[in-house]
Amino acid sequence: MGAKMEADMRKDIFDHLQKLPFSYYDNTNTGKLMSRIVTDLFDISELAHHGPEDLFISILKLTGSFIILLNINVRITVILLLFTFVMLYFSYSYNRRMRGVFKSNREKIANVNAQIQDSLSGIRVVKSFANEDIESLKFAQGNIEFLKTKEDSYFIMGRFFSGNNFFQGILYLSVILSGGIFISLGSLNISDLVVYILYINIFLNPIDKLVNFTEQFQRGITGFERFLEVMNTEPDIEDRENSVEIRNIKGDIEFKDVSFSYNDKHNILSNINIKLPAGKTTAIVGPSGSGKSTFCSLIPRFYEINDGSIAIDGIDIRDIRLKSLRNSIGIVQQDVYMFSGSIKENIAYGKPDATDKEIFEAANKANIHEFIMSLYDGYDTYVGERGVKLSGGQKQRISIARVFLKNPPILILDEATSALDNESEKFIQKSLEKLARNRTTLVIAHRLSTIRSADEIIVITDEGIKEKGTHDELISKNGVYAYLHNMQFKDI
Ligand SMILES: Nc1ncnc2c1ncn2[C@@H]1O[C@H](COP(=O)(O)OP(=O)(O)O)[C@@H](O)[C@H]1O
Ligand SMILES: [Mg+2]
Repeated sequence: MGAKMEADMRKDIFDHLQKLPFSYYDNTNTGKLMSRIVTDLFDISELAHHGPEDLFISILKLTGSFIILLNINVRITVILLLFTFVMLYFSYSYNRRMRGVFKSNREKIANVNAQIQDSLSGIRVVKSFANEDIESLKFAQGNIEFLKTKEDSYFIMGRFFSGNNFFQGILYLSVILSGGIFISLGSLNISDLVVYILYINIFLNPIDKLVNFTEQFQRGITGFERFLEVMNTEPDIEDRENSVEIRNIKGDIEFKDVSFSYNDKHNILSNINIKLPAGKTTAIVGPSGSGKSTFCSLIPRFYEINDGSIAIDGIDIRDIRLKSLRNSIGIVQQDVYMFSGSIKENIAYGKPDATDKEIFEAANKANIHEFIMSLYDGYDTYVGERGVKLSGGQKQRISIARVFLKNPPILILDEATSALDNESEKFIQKSLEKLARNRTTLVIAHRLSTIRSADEIIVITDEGIKEKGTHDELISKNGVYAYLHNMQFKDI
């Protein structure tokens, strides 16, 4: 039962994490989350299957033996009870300290996990800077801090257990002493004292168990508290009660007075009014950091806007069921995430129930089919963690194939070709154009050559939307766009 509870909780916390928004992950470390999911829950099953049983049996034995002891001799039992209360108080005061160190144990091991995660996922950078020693040093620091809290916890546990043993000894001694005195006074006979002392063992045995239980409980409960911390984090972007499914949409997108800031400090975007007409390609241009990617992430509701509204086909996106909203939007970004697995699995991520034929077709449209066929294992080739075995262009084309397979009415291309060389960019540009056909498309590209044919170009700067129009209109206007354009082409 305990193991099942642990597994259930692990599933709950994982499912909950899947629901938490980008903003949560912006401020949370993956390694620390791993620690919460894996390590923190280890002690729960121990507590769950030993705890109730230990508690029940101990309480039964304690009250039973107490009644018997009381029947044998009231006065000695009162003395016994007195010492038991002292022991209880002692345990109680150590409990809080134990909870403190166990909690810090967990935090420190989470730091160690975070360090490992960070260092190993950046292993290529580590090696390229030959910084292995620095990483080892950083790791050692975290590891030593963990060791220190471990030492603290063993120290406190040691005092707790030896303290309890000491009181048990005192208890014995006081019973023998007071028994001896009562015998010499003639108010107790020897056989009663012998029986009494034999029964004390039955009384002390559950106390031992309870002491052990205390430690187990504190271990389990600190993990449980950390579990609750995550579970109580509300996913702030959730479906409203009357949210609707959208199907077969045209793909008209409208921003009305949209303002957005990441952490209420200053607005990244203010009072944006834009229409992205269905089936057309709109390009966004602007200096780095002006909020282009931010703009794109508002449409699939990765972040919630502070003011105004965004509507698709006239329906406010906050009234659309999140799943169906995101199913209608395809995104191709500069850095592509590949899941470790085969190429086929990675393409099929766009549509998990896709047939082989559909996957091949999508790969064909993305100009990657031939390359895949030339590989030793074809579509079953393992791409390596994060797709390390593929080149940037190949990864990008796989991510395009994914979106072909998903076939969404709305398409967002956020610097999709920026990381590529001119040659592969040209190659990919063709498949992107194919992908954009008949979809509402939003393109961000810093190479302005790639957006020349857009139906409308919008220029955003820190001050908001500066200009909009077609390429020719903006060039003849001789404003920001013309300036950016001339900058890029004057050297060539
Ligand atoms: N997740 C985030 N949390 C807080 N600030 C962010 C986040 N992402 C981007 N920013 C800030 O928002 C601004 C716009 O970023 P971004 O939209 O990525 O710019 P662009 O794509 O135009 O280069 C930048 O100043 C950046 O520092
Ligand atoms: Mg960007």
